[in-house]
Amino acid sequence: MPPLAVAVAADLAVAALNPSLDSWDQAPGGTSVELATLRALAGLAGLPDTATGTFTSGGTESNLTALLLARDALPRADLADGRLTVHCSAAAHFSVARSAAVLGLGPQAVIPVDTGPDGRMDPRVLDWSLNDARAEGRTPMCVVATAGTTDLGAIDPLPAVAAVARRYRVRLHVDAAYGGGALFSRRLAPLLDGLGLADTVGLDLHKLGWQPVAAGVLLVRDPQLLAPLEQRAAYLNPADDQDAGYTSLLGRSLRTTRRPDAFKVAVTLRTLGREGLGALVDRCHELARHAAARIAAEPRLELTAEPVLTTVLFRYLPRRGRADPVNAALRRRLLARGQAVVGRTDLGDGQVRLKLTLLNPYSTEADVDRLLELVLAAGAQEDQEPSS
Ligand SMILES: Cc1ncc(COP(=O)(O)O)c(C=O)c1O
Repeated sequence: MPPLAVAVAADLAVAALNPSLDSWDQAPGGTSVELATLRALAGLAGLPDTATGTFTSGGTESNLTALLLARDALPRADLADGRLTVHCSAAAHFSVARSAAVLGLGPQAVIPVDTGPDGRMDPRVLDWSLNDARAEGRTPMCVVATAGTTDLGAIDPLPAVAAVARRYRVRLHVDAAYGGGALFSRRLAPLLDGLGLADTVGLDLHKLGWQPVAAGVLLVRDPQLLAPLEQRAAYLNPADDQDAGYTSLLGRSLRTTRRPDAFKVAVTLRTLGREGLGALVDRCHELARHAAARIAAEPRLELTAEPVLTTVLFRYLPRRGRADPVNAALRRRLLARGQAVVGRTDLGDGQVRLKLTLLNPYSTEADVDRLLELVLAAGAQEDQEPSS
């Protein structure tokens, strides 16, 4: 993803000054900027005025921290081995399962909830899955909804999922690492209605936010939710300093030394504003729609689904033989020749799909057309002389 020049410039200043957010005295400015930026992002997400959070290294750390907060909010008696469950869609990012493993929740902890054909979590299945877990004597610890799955960009039905989580009194985390950027776009933001009902929200502005890595965020609807991370270190955040208004962010993060990644985000928001970032999001969405229309009109290509955000999944339809090895090989052919980098994935059905992740707002429709021509040409070559 191409980072914005203003964000790179701001990050350069951070690199030069090298402050760290683990104590107020090392980063008074960075501390204030992080808190103000979190407020702005929480407002955009529709969270209440009480909301705050922390910057993270990305979507993975946001998910890990959210699950840790959910686990450590439970009464001790519920923490018995193997009893806690996490309910997320089958299309949730793998970092949810990895986080559960890191937290020692056991291999059976993550219960995948079926998605519909559109890749969105089915709230009725979520309801059954929570009910079953309780009936088996287990303790649902967290529901993780995804706002923008990595492949299809599918956004779980947030209001319905929130209603189910509320009914079972279970913590709701929304992984909006990819889709959260749609909040900047007035056209796409309604897709995220209900985000403000979450207890915690993960964002990742190195995706649809064009920030240099790292630019992850974890928002919490109430500062109390951060209590499990509270940390007192005499050499960093003595209580009387804190009481005197020298705020420390030490007790908000799994990390100790931490760059003020909020600074580049704040500078970007000040420079481009929501409208400016929204225009970039809209532009990428338009490119995705253009690619989808072009694919749908091409007999040798098969569009998997209309794009929700900025990813487009498709396949080349070979003249003979199985599509999977041909698609895998044509992609490698493009890579080997240095012609194009086309993504590859499968949706759990084992079928090889090609993937465009359109995150460069300065790409043009002509660039997309040229890319698809290269795919068609590589596919035709595979038809004639299959790679071994
Ligand atoms: C939905 C989702 N969640 C989490 C992540 C992980 O984010 P990161 O790579 O910044 O840790 C990704 C990355 O693609 C993602 O798409």
